[in-house]
Amino acid sequence: VQEQTIAVVGGTGQQGSGLAQRLARAGAPVTIGSREPGRAGAAIEAWPAQAGTIRAASYREAIASANVVILAVPFNTLSDLLSQYRDTFVSGALVVDVTVPLIFSGGTVRLAEVPEGSAAEHVKARLPDHVRTAATFKTVPARLLNDTALPLDCDELVCGDSAEARERAMALVRMVEGLRPIDAGPLSRAGAIEHLTLLAVGLNRLHKIHDARFRVVGL
Ligand SMILES: NC(=O)c1ccc[n+]([C@@H]2O[C@H](COP(=O)([O-])OP(=O)(O)OC[C@H]3O[C@@H](n4cnc5c(N)ncnc54)[C@H](OP(=O)(O)O)[C@@H]3O)[C@@H](O)[C@H]2O)c1
Repeated sequence: VQEQTIAVVGGTGQQGSGLAQRLARAGAPVTIGSREPGRAGAAIEAWPAQAGTIRAASYREAIASANVVILAVPFNTLSDLLSQYRDTFVSGALVVDVTVPLIFSGGTVRLAEVPEGSAAEHVKARLPDHVRTAATFKTVPARLLNDTALPLDCDELVCGDSAEARERAMALVRMVEGLRPIDAGPLSRAGAIEHLTLLAVGLNRLHKIHDARFRVVGL
């Protein structure tokens, strides 16, 4: 596996496609993992050319060929996905969880109760010991990420299961122009980050905007 080959599982979605394009802009080789690689290939062709290569693959192929795997699928699909591909992750891979267990119903939005404490800990509990887990890209809004001409201009909180996971995830965040990584500590902080996404959704609704996001002052 080439150093820093990035798989974006669910890279055809709103959050994944913006991340994939912006990481490729930094020159990284990016693989879009899709349940329908043909559809992903068509999506890639419609995207503006980037410095790095972007290719389409199945989930299995994308995970097996990457040392950084970004999980950008709906939260409620993770359990099945990780049980199916648990043995596919390469040793030493960094798994980056971007999922937020939001439940939209009847005009309201809330966070699902996750027994492990957060989506990121739910992911960690389903991965083999030979991979590291981090959580980030949870508060940067998809709409903004996808309009690759727009500046992001915000901070991105990073937490992880080890100092190594956080360092690697922060390096990934730094590759995306306009994002400043903030080390938020252990993976147990992921729940607080997921609550911030819920808050951003609320702020967007209240103020009739789309791109509420965060910056930490004093750091
Ligand atoms: N939207 C945001 O602003 C935002 C912000 C922060 C975090 N997130 C998180 O990012 C993750 C993806 O969100 P999104 O807004 O990008 O969602 P999305 O547009 O629906 O994309 C999700 C992707 O996941 C894949 N997928 C796998 N199983 C699926 C299923 N059963 N139903 C639907 N899609 C499935 C699909 O890719 P294939 O069909 O190609 O496999 C799809 O393109 C979520 O966990 C969300 O909480 C989103």
